This record gives sequence, C-alpha cells and structure tokens, in this order.
Amino acid sequence: MAYNNCFRGRTLAVINDFSLDERLFLFEKARELKRLLTTGETALPDSFRLSDRDLGVYEVFLEDSTRTKESFRNAAEFHRVKLSELDTGHSSINKKESYADTFNNLIGYDNSIFIVRSKLEGVCRWLESAGSEYAKRNGLQRAPSFINAGDGKHEHPTQELLDEFTFLEDNGWNRTKLHIALVGDLFHGRTVHSKVDGLTVFEHVSVDLVAPRELAMPADCISRMKENGFTLREFDSIDSYVSGGDVAAKWYFTRPQLERMGEDILKRQDELRACITFKRKYLSAVPEGTFFYHPLPRHKEHPTIPAFLDSTPLNHWERQSANGRIVRIILLGLIGGSLGDTFRGSPPEQPDFSDDFIEEIELSGNGSGKEYAEGVKPISKGIVIDHILRGEQEKEIRDHLPQIIKVLKLYGKGGEWVSDSRDNPGIHKGIIFRPGHPPLDERDIKKLAAIAPGCTINVIDQKRVVKKVRLKIPPRIYGFNEISCKNKNCISHPDHFEGVPAEFYRIRGDRFICKYCETMYCFKEIWT
Ligand code: CP
Repeated sequence: MAYNNCFRGRTLAVINDFSLDERLFLFEKARELKRLLTTGETALPDSFRLSDRDLGVYEVFLEDSTRTKESFRNAAEFHRVKLSELDTGHSSINKKESYADTFNNLIGYDNSIFIVRSKLEGVCRWLESAGSEYAKRNGLQRAPSFINAGDGKHEHPTQELLDEFTFLEDNGWNRTKLHIALVGDLFHGRTVHSKVDGLTVFEHVSVDLVAPRELAMPADCISRMKENGFTLREFDSIDSYVSGGDVAAKWYFTRPQLERMGEDILKRQDELRACITFKRKYLSAVPEGTFFYHPLPRHKEHPTIPAFLDSTPLNHWERQSANGRIVRIILLGLIGGSLGDTFRGSPPEQPDFSDDFIEEIELSGNGSGKEYAEGVKPISKGIVIDHILRGEQEKEIRDHLPQIIKVLKLYGKGGEWVSDSRDNPGIHKGIIFRPGHPPLDERDIKKLAAIAPGCTINVIDQKRVVKKVRLKIPPRIYGFNEISCKNKNCISHPDHFEGVPAEFYRIRGDRFICKYCETMYCFKEIWT
C-alpha cells in the first residue's frame, strides 16, 4: 500500500492543525534525532535532512524574538535549505502594504515555507488561503506553508510542540497523566493559550491556574479546557497556591506580557508581578522532584523565576529551550517533505460544513391555509418571519429585531413585535410582518439563518401560507459584508484594511469562533 506524506506543504497556524497522532509522530522523530545528536553513536542519517538548496524557507518576524527565530534559523541550516529573513523594520509593510501582497511577492521568488511572528492574530490562517490562491493564479508547483511563530496573544504552536516534547521526556514518555501549574500572565500569554489543546497529549490532565484576576486565563480558554476533560483549579497568587497543599510537581511560568497590557494593568505591574514571582520561602512547599519550565525570555530585572534557581534541579527551562531546535528541525523536515512517509496515524478532524440548515416544511395539514393577520386585517401577500429567538428573554428579542431588519433591509410596510407563544405561554418569540414583500432569495435566507436561527419564514399569497421554511443554526457564517470579528488584534478586523473576509465556525450551541483569531461569539455579536 502506498502512503502519501501528509505533512508536506501543511500550515501550522494553531496546535490543533496537527492531530494527536501527528504530534506523537513528530515527537518520536525528535526523540530519535536527539538521541543521535547527543550520543553520536551513529552518523546522522541523511534521511533527517531536506538537503535541498532550492527549498526557500523565509523568516518574517514582525515582533522581536530570540529563541523562536534563532532555533528555526539553526534548524533551517541543519537542513541545508535556502534561508532568508525579511528585514521587517525596512519592508514595505511599513508603507501600508498588505500582508497578502508582501507574502505573495516572497512566494513568487520560489519560497515555500514561511515562519511568521506577528502582533496581529490569525495571520497564518489568512496567508494559508491567500498564498494558496496566489500559487494557483501563477501556476506555481508548490503551495506555500505558514508556520505560526506566535501571533499576538492567540497561539504559539511550535512552542507548544517543544513544551509537550519536554514534558513527555521528563515523564519518561508516559502519557497517562500530567499535573501542571500554569503560573504567570495567563491572559496575554500565547504559550499558555496553546496549552488548552496541546495538553491533550496526556490522557488525564490536571491544571492549576495561578494568576491574579487581571492576568487570569480567559473564560473561553477555561471552557475549552473543561471540554477537553481537564481538571482545573484557580489561585490568585503563588502564596495562595502553596498554602493550599496538593502542589503540582511541574510548574510552567510565563512572564508578564508588558507589551500587550493596557495602561491600567501596566500601572499595577509591580503588585501583579509579585503574585507570580517565585520566592526562596516557597522552596519548602514544592514537592521533591519538581521541575520548572519557562518559554523565556525572563525579564532581567524582574524575573518570575529568579536567577538563584538556575543551578537547582528545578531548572528544566534550559533543556526545554534547547529542545526547541530539535523539534523545529523535525517540523521543517515534515512540512518540507523529507520525513513523514512512514506516518500511519489519523489526520486532524476536518470541520463538517455539510449540515443542511434550511428545511422546507410540508404544508399539507401543517399550516397550509393558515392566515397571518396584521392587527385585524389578514395579510394577502408578503412574508412573515416567525419564531425569532423563541425562548429567549423578551428584552433580548426586542433588542435583536432592529438588527435583523437592518441586515436584511426589511424596511417598508409592516410591523414587528415580541409575543407570547400560543402553545407555551411565558415563552417569548419575535415576529416580523412584511406585507407586499417578495419572497427572500437564497442568499437572504442564509443570512436570516445566521442572524435568527430557529425562525420560520412564511410566504403568503392570496391570504394563505404557500411556503414555509424553517432555518436551523448554520455550521459557519461567511460571505456577508455585515459580519466582522470584534477583536481589534484580529487580521480580519476591518480597521486593518487587510481585505480578509470575516468567517465564523460554529463550535457548539449558539457559539461561533472567528476562523482567524478564534475569538468566541454568540451569533448575535458578529453583526456590524
Ligand atoms: N519562547 C519564545 O517564543 O521566545 P522568543 O520570544 O525569544 O522567540
């Protein structure tokens, strides 16, 4: 049986872009390479190297970096590929050139793997489609890959890979359980946000979140950790954590991300930092055999892991950092196509967008002949949108009706109101009557499903309902000018003029996430 190399040409925008099986394969390869590099028993097999001077790897760092940038540079040199770096301080991005235009030019110079760090979130997800379109338009052999080297406070998937590799190494490659404390700026820190899905590499996960309220893990991340089956506890400082007992033997520190904090939090940085800085007095409270990790950098004046701990057995952050090069060598090898032929596991789950959310209801014996009256006068021709936000609070429905009218341009004659359900008194629903309005076209029906899922559309002719359609909640919302992500740091936010069309995927119930920055919204919140 022939197997394709499923890693070749992939983009890694978030940790979940690689399935659990794929990550375990990567770790297995990294472990093999590390053994060969450290023992020197055998000559390093060439099979690990891409050894292709025509394969262009480009580093584009729009934010400062030492470890990520330099470990990728060292990894690319290991592979003997063509390595370039965009001088972002003097590039035309500073003349307001869009990301898509900038990267498309670099793709046109026969570069295929881009390592991208940015303040804006979701950049790699956007470039994946923009770059692929460019490659198609220009008849390029190979679609480009984008590796997220950290995007705002969203994710840092390659840091997550090296963190998981190090945790597994320290756990003797046992994946059964992990009890870890995440300590520090859990609000702005992207490395801990990647842990929400990354830690699923372990079967039973207990996470102690240690951060003052202002730097606490965002609610979306906490919900997702719970969905992933993690056991969670929250503490507002190291003091309160160690005084409670049952302290984890693995601590993962993150620095206060000063560059991403607002003015109000910055003013209180000393007080907040004190809550998450390890002190000598805590040493007696940590269990025997505890390991400390840190993605680094440490602040030289105010390190949350003070330098006196460098020479103690707690120090696992130095080996963690060195593992970054090994893991990134393997990652480049997989995406470049030299490794991966022997992978036999499962790929990541693809979202299912096939859900049929527009259902035409049979009229015979079920509403056929029903009259809708506006006041006392029956509507002879037009549309009635019924069951809007059925079951929600009266005020919620009342506030949402003008939004629906505006988005669907349902101006003109008619009325709209909130009423009690006839069958279930006390259950409210919204109704929009539009006498004389022509039936909605397919695009407007899809829009209505996205802004008022659960409603029914009644088409009326000669005072009778002649067509009735029920709209369920769609699996994704896209293709409408009236939607936008409200996260100002998202690449798709209209303020950035990047021309990125907003798109949202349904994750559960009435909740959707932005395709790019993964900010979570109720369907009502995405309309402009
Ligand atoms: N861990 C990490 O991302 O470090 P750099 O910012 O130095 O790349």
